Amino acid sequence: DKAGHKHFMSKEIAEQPGVIGAAIGHYLTPEGQINISTQDIDFTQFDRIVMVACGTASYACLTAKYWFEQIARLPVEVDVASEFRYREPPISPRTLAVFVSQSGETADTLAALRYCEGKAARILSVVNVPESSIARESDLALPIHAGVEVGVASTKAFTCQLVVLFALVLKAARDRETITAEAFADHISSLRGLPAIISTALEQNDTMQEAALKLSHARDVLFLGRGQMYPLALEGALKLKEISYIHAEAYASGELKHGPIALVDEHVPVVVMAPRDALFDKTVSNMQEVMARKGKVILISDSKGQAEANDGVWFSIEMPPVPDALAPILYAIPAQLLAYHTAVAKGTDVDQPRNLAKSVTVE
Ligand code: M6R
Repeated sequence: DKAGHKHFMSKEIAEQPGVIGAAIGHYLTPEGQINISTQDIDFTQFDRIVMVACGTASYACLTAKYWFEQIARLPVEVDVASEFRYREPPISPRTLAVFVSQSGETADTLAALRYCEGKAARILSVVNVPESSIARESDLALPIHAGVEVGVASTKAFTCQLVVLFALVLKAARDRETITAEAFADHISSLRGLPAIISTALEQNDTMQEAALKLSHARDVLFLGRGQMYPLALEGALKLKEISYIHAEAYASGELKHGPIALVDEHVPVVVMAPRDALFDKTVSNMQEVMARKGKVILISDSKGQAEANDGVWFSIEMPPVPDALAPILYAIPAQLLAYHTAVAKGTDVDQPRNLAKSVTVE
């Protein structure tokens, strides 16, 4: 049932304030603690995390790497499951292995999990389907509470994965005493405010549609982000190619001058994801390099960022302000809506794009 929407994907995008709220409700206690017990997982037992997944779920892992390293001071390695499983990576006994999967049935992710059995200290999964193989074979499975996701392009599962991973990071920071009580409380109250911020971003739907109409004529699109926004650039590019069939690539902004800037001319839209955070000026200077080569910039930023830097850009998309750490969750919304409206403008099969399956159960 599409609940009045033209596609499951738009329904699932619209559901995000609700399901994110549900996920937050499951992982925060009324007293403002993280609802994951130390019996289930105790981060003082690990000195390293490996995170393994495929596609969009791997970008959730990559985002969580920035959080785990910055907030909980735990080193994290992220790998795509198809590479991890055959590389025979050494897994030290104080390693926590984390597997993220919407379906819980992705063949490569499941094989990677089995590889870690008997090697890692603990096997944890973050899944949407609690009865799935990956959930059943884990020491601990954390459900994301996103509800059934039908669209092949993952949307609400991604943002709910991020919410659950962020809660896990806060638990890790508490266990490892890398966070002050005050900073912890700030993050908790930021999380509680997130559904309302996501709703505000969804109100920008018409602006996203306008930007998408422009994008729909492009042959190639670049996405740029720095720091924790880099995985969001990857997610934006994957979403766009998956459903609109436009060739899209993502780069860490700082990598631009090491090659990809050679692609930039007046035909290449460049989507820049840049909340006004500590790295904003760096990203803006990369963006200006693009504009100097006549690249058409779509700047996604908050009102402060737009006021400081949107001179000469092709199109601006204004996001509501958000606490820095949660920006990746918020900026998933424009990534999804840009892809969605571009696909609609191109008339592709949004919910069932060619050559793709919702759940990849063969390698
Ligand atoms: O079910 P999973 O989360 O394990 O699926 C992983 C990928 O196949 C999936 O995220 C895929 O990349 C999506 N179609 C992206 O939108």
